[in-house]
Amino acid sequence: MSARATSSMSSALLERGYELARIDELLEGAIAGSGHLLLVTGPAGIGKTSLLEACARSAGERGIRALAARRRAGDGVVVRGGP
Ligand SMILES: Nc1ncnc2c1ncn2[C@@H]1O[C@H](COP(=O)(O)OP(=O)(O)OP(=O)(O)O)[C@@H](O)[C@H]1O
Ligand SMILES: [Mg+2]
Repeated sequence: MSARATSSMSSALLERGYELARIDELLEGAIAGSGHLLLVTGPAGIGKTSLLEACARSAGERGIRALAARRRAGDGVVVRGGP
């Protein structure tokens, strides 16, 4: 992970060093042409959304456009542009 990405990502999240480093590897892999699917699961409130927001920030720092989709009850799936 680059120093810039490490400092901006770790300042927002505690005890997510492994996950953030893994995300960084996957982003670098995507830039190199090797895409992956990352599934984030866990109990309510554990930090899934926060981790994915950090992923989107890290992607943006690398010039990767991040898109997010969020389900709303009874309203299908909403897709919006990321940073
Ligand atoms: N690694 C972390 N360090 C510090 N605070 C965190 C961390 N992860 C999450 N939080 C905080 O915990 C709260 C819940 O996080 P978040 O909304 O990302 O959880 P979630 O797993 O997406 O929840 P839900 O299951 O309800 O969607 C938020 O206030 C967030 O800022
Ligand atoms: Mg969430």
